[in-house]
Amino acid sequence: MKRTKDRAAPNATGTHPTPQSPIPQQSTFLDTYPEYADTAILDHLRATEYRYLDAKNHLYLDYTGGGLPAETQIQAHADRVRANCFGNPHSANPTSAASTELVEQARDAVLRFFNASPDEYTAIFTPNATGACRLVGEAYPFQPGTRFVQLADNHNSVNGIREFARRRGAQIDTIDVTPPELRAEEHEIHTALDRPPPPPLRNREDNGGRAGLFAYPAQSNFSGVQHPLEWIDIAHRYGFDVLLDAAAYAPANRIDLAEIHPDFMPVSWYKLFGYPTGLGCLIARREALARLQRPWFSGGTIQAVSVQGDWFHPLDGAAAFEDGTVNYLSIPDVEVGLRWLSAIGIDTVHTRVQCLTGWLLDRIGRIPLMIAAAVTLPASGLIAAFAPTDSVAVIAFALGLLGVGWNLGLVSGTAMVTDATRLENRAATQGTVDVGVALSGAGGGIMSGVIVASTSYTLLALLGGALALALIPIIVLTHSAATRTATAS
Ligand SMILES: Cc1ncc(COP(=O)(O)O)c(C=O)c1O
Repeated sequence: MKRTKDRAAPNATGTHPTPQSPIPQQSTFLDTYPEYADTAILDHLRATEYRYLDAKNHLYLDYTGGGLPAETQIQAHADRVRANCFGNPHSANPTSAASTELVEQARDAVLRFFNASPDEYTAIFTPNATGACRLVGEAYPFQPGTRFVQLADNHNSVNGIREFARRRGAQIDTIDVTPPELRAEEHEIHTALDRPPPPPLRNREDNGGRAGLFAYPAQSNFSGVQHPLEWIDIAHRYGFDVLLDAAAYAPANRIDLAEIHPDFMPVSWYKLFGYPTGLGCLIARREALARLQRPWFSGGTIQAVSVQGDWFHPLDGAAAFEDGTVNYLSIPDVEVGLRWLSAIGIDTVHTRVQCLTGWLLDRIGRIPLMIAAAVTLPASGLIAAFAPTDSVAVIAFALGLLGVGWNLGLVSGTAMVTDATRLENRAATQGTVDVGVALSGAGGGIMSGVIVASTSYTLLALLGGALALALIPIIVLTHSAATRTATAS
């Protein structure tokens, strides 16, 4: 995306002067998000390490799509490859040994970054997160009597695992996410995982004692919702292995594998630090990995093979899952990227993302949603009022619109109540508001009956629409009063 205006150059402290700041009313912003000031290092880095953004006049927002590389990372690659001789790691000569050493060093760095014990976890290099999902899907011991339980919010690269599950006769169950927040409740996770194993019921020992695989994203690539990491433990208690898709979560959130213990965790490195592309990892618990059954072998994954004798012996651990020659000139750049990100601090990135997301939601979230509700609700009233009485389709459309308008109003209204109350009063206020909403609903229902009985359905629909329309002047008046107060302060 191209910017339309130039950004101000950073000053000596690495922050941007207020007049040309990309954030209007910056003092108000900093009052709301004081922790933003702790992330000023990122402004400095943007001006020095990511100069190509300004040079090409870019405003880059697609960080779930891919992160951006720092000049230091590119330089480290060029310096390393220019100054050394690296050979294919599948051998013992010095150039091969040099590659092997750096690949193994990068593997260790991955585990360190996620605070994963090398006794519990290993890191397998893959082309991307999708490649990691495929490794699990094609080798997971799905069979009749086991289950693949997926959240409806998964990326397609996780959804695809169901095709392996289906072919092997496993049962596929999907846990829905509910609008408007597109989350699932914890009791729905319990219900889905607690179902009895599907027939034919086999001895669980056939599957290493496991009920099946539960797969969900730590962060949705669609809605940005972060699903609870506590689900991992819950699924383990029901005997499931867990694939936690961390591709969208890892770039701006700390993951501590000494605290949470997913069995399989796919990531793509370009999403964390932009370079190298074409490399990801499957971070896997050694115990769960040992239960996978690869559908084939290839160069790089076996200790020995006999063509005539029709046997092979796989390598142990990660190597058994890295098909062919690994990307030995780029894998060391993963370590460089991890060092780069660690030096900045993943918590710094997290804080910056959190502040900017909050600011964005503040600006585009509540008011436009409320106005959309104030327009949708009268529109539904008008359509219902003038719909031909025998037209089920038009009345159904009006009712659908009513549902949309109601939800828009409820979500934006609830968010505004949350904003306007202090943390210590929030639960009580929200409870009072909920009771008010329920009583208004009940009162409205009773009044509707009276109005329809004494006048007509058309008048009821028009009255409902007019009531909703009254929201617009109220929003505009209160919003401009609030803006005046903020500007004055
Ligand atoms: C949550 C999630 N999972 C998986 C993927 C797949 O990543 P890749 O295309 O790098 O394999 C993405 C990519 O956007 C994602 O956001």
